[in-house]
Amino acid sequence: MSAVDTERREALEAAGAGRERAADAEAGAHSSGVVKRRYVRRMFSEIAPTYDFLNSLLSFNIDRRWRRRAIDVLGWERRPRGLYLDACAGTLDMSVELSTRSGFAGTVLAADFAEAMLRAGGNKPGTANVRALVADALHLPLGDASVDGAMVAFGVRNFADIDAGLRELARVLRPGARLVVLDCSAPPSAFVRGVYHVYFRQLLPLVGRLVSGHRTAYRYLPESVAHFPPAPELAARLAQAGLAGVGYETLTLGVTAVHWGERAPDLGAGA
Ligand SMILES: C[S@@+](CC[C@H](N)C(=O)[O-])C[C@H]1O[C@@H](n2cnc3c(N)ncnc32)[C@H](O)[C@@H]1O
Repeated sequence: MSAVDTERREALEAAGAGRERAADAEAGAHSSGVVKRRYVRRMFSEIAPTYDFLNSLLSFNIDRRWRRRAIDVLGWERRPRGLYLDACAGTLDMSVELSTRSGFAGTVLAADFAEAMLRAGGNKPGTANVRALVADALHLPLGDASVDGAMVAFGVRNFADIDAGLRELARVLRPGARLVVLDCSAPPSAFVRGVYHVYFRQLLPLVGRLVSGHRTAYRYLPESVAHFPPAPELAARLAQAGLAGVGYETLTLGVTAVHWGERAPDLGAGA
């Protein structure tokens, strides 16, 4: 198929999705490529004003503890003056968590393709050494081996192509630098999974819709989690993306997991 055919097909897909309001949560979570990317970008732009409030409310504020744990395993202490990428930075919570760590003297590049999310977090205390960048995590405007560490919190699940996104993140790491991925996961206990399922599929979409006023965003969330690989599979995919020393830890009965891996010294000829 030629590039023109591909473009035309993608445009048709997008137009078709638009007719049915591509913002349908299930379409957003199931579809791939241009449709998912557009849905995700628009949806986060629309919910940006209420994102932080709902995040804390719906996670009972535990999300702060999860982010703290993710920064704990980033290994920034090895290069406290370095450049760190917060991909899918949203309202900058991960960036702030790193930039305010005692002893951190580097810079955090907070990248997100929804500018409204970056703007919503722009006035938070602790952003003096955070630089916002409107960019797609699958096509980062950064050179090979240009950052001393990277993190993605609750972002990988939204990628139109998870493997391509992980490869892109691995590409920008300098050899030996670490990528940390924090995201939702499937709790191993059937009982916890059952409770979580009811909460995620019934209560969360209702509260999310009432507070944000958004028709589908909080239905997309459980859909996106349902289609996200379980923790051991995600670890294998980090390794396939060229990362070494891959490991993970589950948090809060397994409802989230933090994964890490380091760029192997021999990845990429341009390194
Ligand atoms: C659930 S929010 C998480 C925000 C933040 N990391 C946090 O911990 O709260 C997901 C963010 O990822 C962004 N995002 C999703 N896919 C992206 C992509 N391909 N490139 C850049 N940003 C993306 C969305 O715009 C949104 O701001």
